[in-house]
Amino acid sequence: MLLLLASPPAWAQDDAISTPLTASPGDATRGRALVADRQRGLCLLCHPGPFPEERFQGNLAPDLAGAGSRWNEGQLRLRLVDSKRLNPDSIMPSYYRTEGLNRVGPAFRGRTVLSAQEIEDVLAYLLTLREEAPR
Ligand code: HEC
Repeated sequence: MLLLLASPPAWAQDDAISTPLTASPGDATRGRALVADRQRGLCLLCHPGPFPEERFQGNLAPDLAGAGSRWNEGQLRLRLVDSKRLNPDSIMPSYYRTEGLNRVGPAFRGRTVLSAQEIEDVLAYLLTLREEAPR
């Protein structure tokens, strides 16, 4: 028997979710709108990013500019789905975690902050952010 693996199987990667959550690809334009949305994404509460039209942006988290070159698609997907899997103390919300949430009201049980399609949309947008913020 030949036991030779050319590369580790996908499930061996625990710092990434390499499989898309939806069959239809993400839409970067919708994703950008979600990131800037103060009711849904809330990303700019903590993160600054390349949003010249947004006056108030956060400074608690890394600049989103350049995120698409610092991380690959699977790594970014995991950070959106559940960043606490990488850093249990992270203040970043888990946008698509369904298990392990106690203390949520019955109306929200089993619901996620963003839908699977919205995660893929935000991800598509983040992947366009190839350039680091000017210093
Ligand atoms: C309450 C604050 C908060 C919110 C809201 C938040 N984040 Fe984060 N995010 C963080 C912090 C802090 C980190 C740094 C790593 C850590 O502590 O988990 C981070 C890390 C990241 C990273 C990796 C950054 C890097 O380059 O190292 C990405 C990408 C990211 N967030 C995207 C988003 C997106 C997109 C949203 C909205 C859908 C969002 N975050 C909402 C706080 C936040």
